[in-house]
Amino acid sequence: MRKSLFFSTLLAVSLSTSAQKKATIEIHPEQGTQMISKHIYGHFAEHLGSCIYGGLWVGEKSDIPNTKGYRTDVLEALKKLHIPNLRWPGGCFADEYHWMDGIGPKENRPKMVNNNWGGTIEDNSFGTHEFLNLCELLGCEPYISGNVGSGTVEELAKWVEYMTSDGDSPMANLRRKNGRDKAWKVKYLGVGNESWGCGGNMEPAYYADLFRRYSTYCRNYDSNQLFKIASGASDYDYKWTETLMQKDASKMDGISLHYYTCKGWNGSKGSATNFSKDDYYWTMGKCLEIEDVVKKHIAIMDKYDAKKKVGLMVDEWGTWWDVEPGTNPGHLFQQNTLRDAFVAALTLNVFNKYGDRIQMANIAQVVNVLQSMILTKGKQMVLTPTYYVFDMYKVHQGATYLPLNLTCDTTKLDNKRAVPALSASASKDANGIIHITLANTDLDNSEDVDISIPSFKAAKVNGRILTSKGIDDYNEFGTPEKVQPKDFKDVKVSKQGLKVKMPAKSIVVLEIN
Ligand code: AHR
Repeated sequence: MRKSLFFSTLLAVSLSTSAQKKATIEIHPEQGTQMISKHIYGHFAEHLGSCIYGGLWVGEKSDIPNTKGYRTDVLEALKKLHIPNLRWPGGCFADEYHWMDGIGPKENRPKMVNNNWGGTIEDNSFGTHEFLNLCELLGCEPYISGNVGSGTVEELAKWVEYMTSDGDSPMANLRRKNGRDKAWKVKYLGVGNESWGCGGNMEPAYYADLFRRYSTYCRNYDSNQLFKIASGASDYDYKWTETLMQKDASKMDGISLHYYTCKGWNGSKGSATNFSKDDYYWTMGKCLEIEDVVKKHIAIMDKYDAKKKVGLMVDEWGTWWDVEPGTNPGHLFQQNTLRDAFVAALTLNVFNKYGDRIQMANIAQVVNVLQSMILTKGKQMVLTPTYYVFDMYKVHQGATYLPLNLTCDTTKLDNKRAVPALSASASKDANGIIHITLANTDLDNSEDVDISIPSFKAAKVNGRILTSKGIDDYNEFGTPEKVQPKDFKDVKVSKQGLKVKMPAKSIVVLEIN
């Protein structure tokens, strides 16, 4: 109690004295060498709450408009985001999932209890075919998370064969019997999930051996080439990364990392919609701490893999708040405000920067769970503020990262975390168009941003802005969306570059031709 009073006072003082509202950015297009992997803009769909059932899948007989059983509204919204990959079936669920229960005629599929997520009965009506066909419809790469915790090597090996073998093999023939002649292409294979926790509570050295064993038998069939991802650390667990890299670096293609912007794992995590200014700035600080965490994991990886062959896959990230009142605590259904949009914007700006090591990231999760893109209620659907950040930022996918120097004011929170007023990222796409994404985290002050791009003459600039009256604004079912992007005109082109006036609490994307 005493600590939080002190904290509030400190914050108030620092906010009231922050009169400076100018920032500068210097971009050097000629220094751009590394690509921003499109997979940094990846997603995650777990059998959890109404992510799959009701969110993505309603079945062909539903009165909710659907395309072969998939919600048409959700499908169309996700296509607009150009989602590059989708991770499935978990999360913690993956290590209790037995894929053979989810193939063949639906009426014969056994049910199971979803022990991790509220004890809900899972009827397995959404299985391998339903998932991989969804990825085909979305035009995205599937990322399969395999069961190491409660499964067997044989089970995972056979799953790979079932999905990817085109030969006259037992599993390929079983797939054909179930209606799919041609093998799917599956590149990304997660060998377990959170093996230090819900995925088996293992010690790192023990898991490192298991990773070798499981991955030995997950074969490359025909032209399919697996990219094997080791179950990685949570947040600050550098020992896990160290052990795995030391023992298995030459055997893996990627290692995962999970980082949630949340207030810890015991007790209340705070409301998604009802929060104070202090809570907001705390959230920004905690979210930005991901840069330090990522840097430390990368430094360990560099020790064992100087050539940066192994990718860091941040395959779970995002905000984690208390569930919405009256909803099942095991279903992790939370609203999504402009604050969440900032977490997405700031985090993506960080990921873009480390594209030489970060090859993938998956926000948790795509529909109705944690920091979702989309929320559904019966026939209704809303796009969240986070959805719009992904929409604005999609221009960075596959583009060349442009290093930048940024100077700006900071809001000092405590001795540990300081929140810069401005966050930015720039890239150049295949057509030579430069995109800059900017976020003014200051809740009260607008920011004059001078952007210089030596040797580049801007002819035309288009912009979009995401902001709202309140930082706690969100999009409600049944009413017009309160938080959505609009055209942004407050940018002037000069000889030196651009002059941008960012309103308080705003996120902007600029397209410079
Ligand atoms: O995303 C929700 C859960 O968070 C995942 O199932 C698990 O991997 C993590 O702890």
